[in-house]
Amino acid sequence: MMFRLVLLSVCVAFCGACSCAPSYFPDALCRPRILFRGAAIAEGTEGKEPEQPTNPNMMIIRYYTRVFTVRVDQAFRMPASLRNNQTITIKTSSSGSMCGTGFTLNEDTLFAAYMRQSGEVRTNMCSPNTRWNYLSARSQQLLESNDFPQYCANLDTNKGNGFLMPEVRPVLATQP
Ligand SMILES: *[C@@H]1O[C@H](CO)[C@@H](O)[C@H](O)[C@H]1NC(C)=O
Repeated sequence: MMFRLVLLSVCVAFCGACSCAPSYFPDALCRPRILFRGAAIAEGTEGKEPEQPTNPNMMIIRYYTRVFTVRVDQAFRMPASLRNNQTITIKTSSSGSMCGTGFTLNEDTLFAAYMRQSGEVRTNMCSPNTRWNYLSARSQQLLESNDFPQYCANLDTNKGNGFLMPEVRPVLATQP
């Protein structure tokens, strides 16, 4: 466990890049266990504080966890344990190469996340987080209709893993 933590927090020279399987919208919306419209209202960090390397040639990057407090405006898919939450804490890696992502505060956003066994809610670049406005009218209407659960239930599960560009531009993540 300690070893893994060290690997995660110290990345030397080649960290690898985050790669996601692109998905079709709106089918991609059927994957996350947590899906809701809302807005990030605060951002903090957890773990190692962000640091500038003292020597820029050192290529050592210290990762930490970005912690977003997110207001829930409209829930589309929510585990029972979060159904009464007006805010949800969502965590993601500070590192884009580890598929970390980010949110602009106070912006109308579709949040897509999952829950770890510990109850921690996480998201990453491969989750279909997006500004609400970037969703097509079709996706917006599907989410807000009563048909969404049935649409997802009818999905051919292989289709959701298709390799097509999503209809949306990614959330403009502010990488530190
Ligand atoms: C859900 O709300 C409860 C009660 O306010 C809070 O303690 C908990 O941290 C919230 N869960 C998440 C994942 O934010």
